Order: sequence, then C-alpha cells, then structure tokens
Amino acid sequence: RCDALIFDLDGVLTDTAETHYRAWRRLADEIGVPFARADNERMKGVDRMASLDILLQRASRDYPPAERLALAARKNEYYVQDIGGITPDRLFDGVHALLADARRRGLKLAVASASRNAALLLRNLGIADKFDHVVDAAHLSRAKPDPEIFLAAAHALGVSPAVCIGIEDSLAGIAAIHAAGMSAIGVGDAGVLSPADAVVPDIAHLRLSDFVIP
Ligand code: BG6
Ligand code: MG
Repeated sequence: RCDALIFDLDGVLTDTAETHYRAWRRLADEIGVPFARADNERMKGVDRMASLDILLQRASRDYPPAERLALAARKNEYYVQDIGGITPDRLFDGVHALLADARRRGLKLAVASASRNAALLLRNLGIADKFDHVVDAAHLSRAKPDPEIFLAAAHALGVSPAVCIGIEDSLAGIAAIHAAGMSAIGVGDAGVLSPADAVVPDIAHLRLSDFVIP
C-alpha cells in the first residue's frame, strides 16, 4: 500500500545537481583547491557544510570554522545567483504528469530536500503549490543518511512511514528513506543506486502503476 510520495528535489525534479557543481567549482577555483566531478558525486544529497568538508579534504591548509562558514556562504551566493534565473522549463520532463497522476490516485505529496534553497527553487520552478508539505531543512538537525527529514515529511502529511515511497537520486537519500522504514525509488544509474527497491533512469520513466495499486 502507498499513501504518499516524498520527493527529493535536486537531481530528481530538476538538474540543480549541476548548478550546485558550478557554484562549488567557482569557489574551488578561487581558493585554489582541486575539485573534480567525482568529488561532486560524493556531495549529492549531502548538506552544505558537509559538502564543504568534502571539498576541503583536498585543500593544502586548514580552514578554521569561521572561515568555513564564510566559504559556505560565498558558495551559496553563487548558487542563489544562478537559481534566481531558473524558470519552469528547467523542470525535468514528466514531473507535471507524474504529480497529476499521483493526485488522481489520491496520494499525498511532500518534498524532503536537504537544501535551504528548496522553497525558493520550488517557487521559481512554478511547483511550490503542488505539494502538501515541503520540509524546511533549516529546522532539521541531522543530515541524510539520517532518516529525520523523511520522518518529518511523513509526520507532516499525517501518514505512517510504512505507506510512504521516497524518491531520491543520491545514495545518502536512499539510505535515509530505508532508515525511515519507507520504500525507495532511485532516479539515475541502476548500478550506482542498487540499494534502492527500484531504479528508473529519470523521473519521466517513473510509472506509478508499477508501484501503486490500483
Ligand atoms: C542537496 C544537494 O539537495 O542540498 C546538495 O543534493 C546540496 O548538493 C544540499 O549541497 C544543500 O543545499 P543548500 O542549498 O542548502 O546549500
Ligand atoms: Mg538529490
């Protein structure tokens, strides 16, 4: 049985994984820290300060906490500048159809994104009003793979975790969904996301009839 769908945002509904990458890349270049695409893969789903920690693993000197906060704020400025210009055409194909189908089936819908920019992004993409609840990452204390964010979503929707399906593009997110006692659909490479209960290459390939009865 499934009563609710809980969506990750970055990399599931739109390709802001790439936008985050560009902002980190700019910061890394400015401070002279090597940064490869593979590092970005490890940052997927991970919150802002933990992402910075990953970036600074290759730094040639130590960065004290105050400096880390300033760097994280700088990266966020670059990111916000970039998503400020995002329009609904940046939504992945199939998102509107999927959300409409979920509504027809009477499912509740939430967003569980680690990003503190999630509300802004959903507004710019024109889908802020499509969800019953958007978890505010600023009110959470434990990052994915901790289940806190998915449990908070289920609680806000008024449903048991056991009747929720979480939809994620990151391994940290899939681990969080499972730790919350939910089923996980991975979006992306089936080889990479093998712990998920099912994997689709992209959101346009997610057919609710495969997971939700009737
Ligand atoms: C996640 C992204 O959704 O949000 C990460 O996958 C990002 O790449 C994290 O670092 C935090 O985002 P923000 O906008 O709060 O810096
Ligand atoms: Mg994601």
